Amino acid sequence: MISEKMQEALNAQINKELYSAYLYKAMSAVCSQENLDGFANWFNIQAQEEYAHAMGFYNHIIDRGGVINLLAIDAPCLKERTPLDLFKRTLEHEQYVTACIYELSDLAVAENDKPAKLLLDWYVREQLEEESTAEKIIDTLTRFGKDENALFFLDKDFSTRTFVQPTIA
Ligand code: FEO
Repeated sequence: MISEKMQEALNAQINKELYSAYLYKAMSAVCSQENLDGFANWFNIQAQEEYAHAMGFYNHIIDRGGVINLLAIDAPCLKERTPLDLFKRTLEHEQYVTACIYELSDLAVAENDKPAKLLLDWYVREQLEEESTAEKIIDTLTRFGKDENALFFLDKDFSTRTFVQPTIA
């Protein structure tokens, strides 16, 4: 059985993951409007990954006989329009999510909740990958983003990204 405190914290994280999906969906729309269909695809896949992340917490609560409490999802406020700015925002957002995951991991340790800790270890690794991916793309865009040819090929490359259902924990 999951504790009330952990249940509430994981329900809050479901909301943050769903907000992340919403944010990346908004970024995908911006890219589509700018005719960057490959970038739009990349953010669309990212949104699907975030939904899968939310379901990882959802399934964990259910598996432990807990109660799901779905909260309202904030509207994403997105002023960024260029790929570089969108990925800078992505990194900033992922750093925030990483901090949230670390807090949850600390809570699992404090409560000696081994199943939650095991689950959260997966998310700690996932966040490492998400931040690293965003950093690499920012680096590439900083170096080549003003070159229309480079942007064209990067857009082509991003159009090949496909969704792979993650095996969580
Ligand atoms: Fe689910 Fe991108 O953090």
